[in-house]
Amino acid sequence: MKNILIIGASKGIGLSLAKIMSQNPENNLYTVSRTETEELARLESNHISMDIVNDDIGNLDQLPEELHGLVYCPGAIQLRPFARLKPKDFIEDYKLQVLGPVRVIQTLLPKLKKAGQASIVLFSTVAVQTGLNFHSMVSASKGAIEGLSRSLAAEFAPKIRVNCIAPSLTDTPLAFALLNTDQKRSANAERHPLKRVGRAEDIASMAAFLLSEQGSWITGQVMHVDGGLSKLKT
Ligand SMILES: NC(=O)c1ccc[n+]([C@@H]2O[C@H](COP(=O)([O-])OP(=O)(O)OC[C@H]3O[C@@H](n4cnc5c(N)ncnc54)[C@H](OP(=O)(O)O)[C@@H]3O)[C@@H](O)[C@H]2O)c1
Repeated sequence: MKNILIIGASKGIGLSLAKIMSQNPENNLYTVSRTETEELARLESNHISMDIVNDDIGNLDQLPEELHGLVYCPGAIQLRPFARLKPKDFIEDYKLQVLGPVRVIQTLLPKLKKAGQASIVLFSTVAVQTGLNFHSMVSASKGAIEGLSRSLAAEFAPKIRVNCIAPSLTDTPLAFALLNTDQKRSANAERHPLKRVGRAEDIASMAAFLLSEQGSWITGQVMHVDGGLSKLKT
């Protein structure tokens, strides 16, 4: 059996990943989020309700001794002109997107080591590879995630693999404000070479691959699942 923990599994990409992982009877699924949605409850995962940034994460001790997979999904997309951002905005964003996974990985490292072979998946954004207007705050935090992933991949090899996924705009509750009219949806689809925005499953299936045996020779990578936006000009 493989023990897999998804932090941020109540909706969006994390929920989609929880659905994929729960289809394999070899997986013991553990989930964390502040709320447990009906869809997540139906998966009958072992759920811990917790705010991963502000709560004491000592609760994670109740997880099994061995942890084979860890995925950290909570994130933010606050798009504002740089001049309107205050240093404290950057700090709040960094707490959620960088210190969150740092705290979690430090807490769970003994369990990940004990598993013998484990995989950690973190999330970046297309806006690190490609400069986009008004993305300074998210790209600063996610740029740190890309560096952290590579550095930890080196430090933890060969027992623990660490990768991150850099999605472009994906249809989840997080991106609601960017996709809540037909006009916004079609304009956003149009700017991608593959002419659509991402679906949660597009990203979740890459995370599932990185957790699986098929992904067992991949570490320290940034996987660009972005409809071609970061690499192509069409
Ligand atoms: N969607 C996109 O367009 C897009 C693009 C690029 C990168 N990404 C990255 O992909 C990752 C997943 O994004 P998503 O779109 O699936 O996000 P989402 O729809 O907002 O889902 C985030 C999940 O994290 C949980 N969560 C948020 N804050 C939390 C906290 N403090 N403590 C515990 N759980 C928390 C949420 O559940 P609760 O609210 O119940 O706690 C939810 O289950 C993020 O890191 C995001 O930055 C997304």
